[in-house]
Amino acid sequence: MSISKEVKRVTVHTLRQMKEAGEKIAMLTAYDYSMARILDEAGIEVLLVGDSASNVMAGHETTLPITLDEMIYHASSVVRAINKALVVVDLPFGTYQGNSKNALDSAIRIMKESGAHGVKLEGGLEIKESIIRILSAGVPVMGHLGLTPQSIYKFGTYTVRAKEEMEAERLLSDAILLEELGCFSIVLEKIPAPLAAKVAQTVSIPIIGIGAGDQVDGQVLVTHDMLGITKDFKPRFLRRYRDLYEDIYNASKEYLRDVKSKDFPNQSEQY
Ligand code: KIV
Repeated sequence: MSISKEVKRVTVHTLRQMKEAGEKIAMLTAYDYSMARILDEAGIEVLLVGDSASNVMAGHETTLPITLDEMIYHASSVVRAINKALVVVDLPFGTYQGNSKNALDSAIRIMKESGAHGVKLEGGLEIKESIIRILSAGVPVMGHLGLTPQSIYKFGTYTVRAKEEMEAERLLSDAILLEELGCFSIVLEKIPAPLAAKVAQTVSIPIIGIGAGDQVDGQVLVTHDMLGITKDFKPRFLRRYRDLYEDIYNASKEYLRDVKSKDFPNQSEQY
């Protein structure tokens, strides 16, 4: 029996045990009650209330505009749905960088108002003080290195990160630092697979990859991407398991046709 099935609720300790046992961790994003319920029942171990909600839920071009209040709204909807999964919430842009008191206040609001189990922050050394302060309040922290979408205007593109030796060395030392500070896991986004493998071997906390190859401890995808609800986003790392854009489009067309033709509702569909 797998470790995640032995225990009722997934905790940060479960994830550590899974890494030690070589059992891969499955993480997906969730932003609302109905979807979170399905993902939790399917056995997905970690639900990430990602700030990708800014893109897929709100239609913004970047993750920067989403607010703390909006993240708390999404997170509390997800928490109400789950029985087993660990729920981790992104601290949105502007709520933790450069001011550790602000970071702690933001993390506490998320934990208190949504009931989530941990927070995720993008960055390494530059946000060290914020991480220390959040951890000191007993809030579990997940790190996020590599492509960090909240810094898109610094880098200018969403291309693969840490291809150059200096950037790769910095990423590895940031990962070691995050483990030393006490983070329970790290997301590595869009970096070369050999570098991600090296990080996963070097640190003992679980490394969850997105576009980081197969030698890490788990995988994460944006649910709307892997279900094919988003249409034009086609990075190489993405596996689409369904084409729900097509399915929803066709179902809507059928409904439209049935309403117009007065086929819906029929006798058995009314009181
Ligand atoms: O916001 C998000 O969905 C994320 C994942 C891509 C890891 O941070």
